[in-house]
Amino acid sequence: MNNNVGLDKSGPIGVFDSGYGGLTILKQIRHAMPEYDFLYLGDNARTPYGTRSFQVVYEYTLECVKKLFDMGCHLVILACNTASAKALRTIQQVDLPRIDASRRVLGIIRPTVESIDALTKTRHVGLLATPGTVKSLSYPLEINKLFPDITVTAEACPIWVPLVESGESGSQGADFFVKRHVDSLLAKDNMIDTIILGCTHYPLLLPKIRKYVPENISILSQGEYVAKSLRNYMYRHPEMDACCTKNGKCSYFTTESAETFLPNASLFLNERIQAQSISL
Ligand code: DGL
Repeated sequence: MNNNVGLDKSGPIGVFDSGYGGLTILKQIRHAMPEYDFLYLGDNARTPYGTRSFQVVYEYTLECVKKLFDMGCHLVILACNTASAKALRTIQQVDLPRIDASRRVLGIIRPTVESIDALTKTRHVGLLATPGTVKSLSYPLEINKLFPDITVTAEACPIWVPLVESGESGSQGADFFVKRHVDSLLAKDNMIDTIILGCTHYPLLLPKIRKYVPENISILSQGEYVAKSLRNYMYRHPEMDACCTKNGKCSYFTTESAETFLPNASLFLNERIQAQSISL
């Protein structure tokens, strides 16, 4: 049972991902908003989400959001495209009004989509993402709502998250799978001039992705756009800003053991951190 909801007036901003990927977003957010407190939760015990059904991703995500609320967060960022694509809308429309209408959950697809207009000249955009995100059609739908003239071509990369989660993103073996999906995407549409990395794990594969993507094609990593958009959200929502504590602290939680989480988390963050294991 939730003991904190409605009682505490302020707390850290919750950042959630199925595993390590959200750390790439958190890093950029902390850079843009160093004064805020953050609480990161990675559901490493149940990752990957990208190959799971809508219902399962929704249930897992909701559980984690509730946990972050229990831990004192008033605002939670789903730093996971798969969760943003499959769970965000139901949580915002159905669950939040029941749980606590004053709390907020935001996703990362919208800020990414908003930035695409300025980047593409050919109006042909490629998307590399998990099978779940691709199947949800969230990116083409959101992009075409704002920019109907943009053609979006997607490629699902089911093996990329497991490669990253198992610390293989720099290995020679990873080249094979990176090249395969990049080639497949570009073969579907040779007018693509911008590729969205629509999974928060993929920035870890960026050196390899860059190797196989022609230089004239831009690659969009979400972190800086999400960070800019969150900063802007805080200006526009002073009532939520007042609910966020500002001591520049960040704590890390995982549903796996802390010993398992830490080595890979350091890889994502380039710094040593402390982490605690929690059960949901
Ligand atoms: N990091 C998540 C995303 O941005 C996906 C990881 C997973 O498949 O669990 O889509």
